[in-house]
Amino acid sequence: VKDKNGTDQVLLQNPKGASVKISLHGGQVLSWKTERGDELLFTSAKANSKPPHPVRGGIPICFPQFGTRGSLEQHGFARNKMWLVENDPPALPSFDSTGKAYVDLVLKSSDEDTTRIWPHCFEFHLRVSLGLDGNLTLISRVRNINSKPFSFSIAYHTYFSISDISEVRVEGLETLDYLDNMLDKERFTEQGDALTFESEIDRVYLNSKDVVAVFDHERKRTFLIEKEGLPDVVVWNPWDKKAKALPDLGDEEYKHMLCVDGAAIEKPITLKPGEEWTGKLSLSLVLST
Ligand code: BG6
Repeated sequence: VKDKNGTDQVLLQNPKGASVKISLHGGQVLSWKTERGDELLFTSAKANSKPPHPVRGGIPICFPQFGTRGSLEQHGFARNKMWLVENDPPALPSFDSTGKAYVDLVLKSSDEDTTRIWPHCFEFHLRVSLGLDGNLTLISRVRNINSKPFSFSIAYHTYFSISDISEVRVEGLETLDYLDNMLDKERFTEQGDALTFESEIDRVYLNSKDVVAVFDHERKRTFLIEKEGLPDVVVWNPWDKKAKALPDLGDEEYKHMLCVDGAAIEKPITLKPGEEWTGKLSLSLVLST
């Protein structure tokens, strides 16, 4: 399928009717729906989906830089680039395809003028899969195909759709250290129990457990974020003032979104020539009655 700008999108569906939509612009998941058709990811009504503008919503991939931690544009270039569908990806032996709908995308340094802004030769293979249970999994493999090492950071900047930011809580980050992006990346230790929200938050939690949960009482649903190879967790909500300052986010929309990202930020990943890194993010939904 194509969007209104003519950008190719891939639609995955499982036999029960759950679906995932991925845009080649950014290799970005734009929609994740349950079998009943409920949308689980937030996308702004004001999102600008015209390449190379990054799309406000879904799961933008921040790579090879997170935020302003480096000399590249905010969150790196991967989310602005056109990815390709890869028909013959390198084998992924640990992947069980039973009952899964999936697609392989690739971003290569040679495809684009990325080497001008980031002088390294890489291949970024992304497999997006939708399970029979409706779970969404993103497996990223970054490979160094050059003769000198390079380092990168990565985040799956996941915009969850929530009922009301004042009603949700995040568990799994208790007692962790975090870097506060609002306070010049200063390091603090989380004191409270579950995380609740009453103002802007922009943090990188360090070395979290492999599962983090977002509880949404009003909608009686919980998102489980399971991750491998992604030690850090970004938590971001712009709140009212910053929302007003973002042209592609409605003034009130911050209430209905929460970014919780599986990420590797504090300790960038270094790949020697020929080496490959794998990171995996699995999202699932638990309904309560
Ligand atoms: C967060 C950053 O993770 O992403 C914020 O720490 C930033 O500073 C936010 O505002 C959104 O970034 P962008 O580039 O998509 O507006």
